[in-house]
Amino acid sequence: MKTRIQDLDVRNKRVLLRCDFNVPIKDGVILDDSKIIAALNTIEYLIKQNAKIIILSHFGKVKSESDKEKNSLAVVAAHLQKLVSTKVIFSKQPRSLFLEAKIAEMNPGEIMVLENTRFEDVPTKLESGNDPQLAMYWAGLADIFCLDAFGSAHRCHASTHGVAKYIPSCIGFLVQHEIQMLDQYIFGAAHPFTIVMGGAKVEDKVELIESLLPRCDHLLLTGGIANSCLAVLGFNVGNSIRTTDPEIMLKLKDILIQYKDKIMLPIDVIIGRVYNDDFIEHVNINNVKDDDIIYDIGMKTIYKFKDIIDKSKTIFVNGTAGKYEDIKYATGTRELLEMITKSNAIKIVGGGDGVSAVKHFKLEEKFTFLSTGGGATLEYIINGSLPAIENITDKEVTE
Ligand code: 3PG
Repeated sequence: MKTRIQDLDVRNKRVLLRCDFNVPIKDGVILDDSKIIAALNTIEYLIKQNAKIIILSHFGKVKSESDKEKNSLAVVAAHLQKLVSTKVIFSKQPRSLFLEAKIAEMNPGEIMVLENTRFEDVPTKLESGNDPQLAMYWAGLADIFCLDAFGSAHRCHASTHGVAKYIPSCIGFLVQHEIQMLDQYIFGAAHPFTIVMGGAKVEDKVELIESLLPRCDHLLLTGGIANSCLAVLGFNVGNSIRTTDPEIMLKLKDILIQYKDKIMLPIDVIIGRVYNDDFIEHVNINNVKDDDIIYDIGMKTIYKFKDIIDKSKTIFVNGTAGKYEDIKYATGTRELLEMITKSNAIKIVGGGDGVSAVKHFKLEEKFTFLSTGGGATLEYIINGSLPAIENITDKEVTE
């Protein structure tokens, strides 16, 4: 078992807290602050313990100098200031003499947010390359490292993984909660256990499917992964998102044969056309033409899924049924999610797209648990662990 924040004496200590503040921002406005809200349990606990809280987080992808301006954590630090009663100081650099001096001046219970850890990826990938000097530098700022960035725990970066080598480390309340929920509801799922999977990324899903199929009773497929399976079965999916990788197609073929009784695919779809933005038509799956793009599932498919959803005791949602951001193609995703919320099952959403869709349709209160992770949640479900969590100090066992 990993050391938890409550297992250590953090009173009056300098705590380096790795959060995942990689939130969606548009025109300087945070569109969804739930990852920041989810980190408040640990932050508030540390404030009460009079710790000096030094927060690290990445934000977006930083590959060049010009990426820095649009990926500053300054907006997040300002937002955090509105959510806590203590002072939040923002350091414009993730590493500088100035920030070291500022930490020395901090009062107990105050917070310092360092600039985006990925600024250290330019010009050389020190953060994402898990550079030991950089990890040692950040560890040197504190007495204890607390990992509370579940959404980044699949990354072996200096700020998630490297730092834990140099100072005592622990997991925060957010990471503990994620592990508890996923262990209880996915690894210990009540049956019938149904997976509802969609979304645009196909390649990422194959490993997840392979890991989940032996454990679930039903797999209801939509989106790019369904299109890929339909193509493997010989259906014309036109210009729709699908894999054309022969190795993945072969894998899907094997999966479709081995688990034919568990997998269900769309029987009708809503299509659009590449050169006509206004085009929309409802067709049966065997009537898709070369120029068509499948953007959503149809009502016959939703009713076909209903029986299974109604009988399920656990439902795990990953990805969306269609291009829900476009109102023309939002019906399938919305109807399917609403139908799931009406079932008595435990309802878990994991993976970034699915969570965004649930929030888009304002259904978050109706789900049992929305994971804060995207890739991290999927990797946890596949492997039962994540590298950054594995690296945390084991809890001392006292007899
Ligand atoms: C996420 O948004 O899924 C996490 O913050 C990880 O971000 P990354 O894929 O850029 O590492």
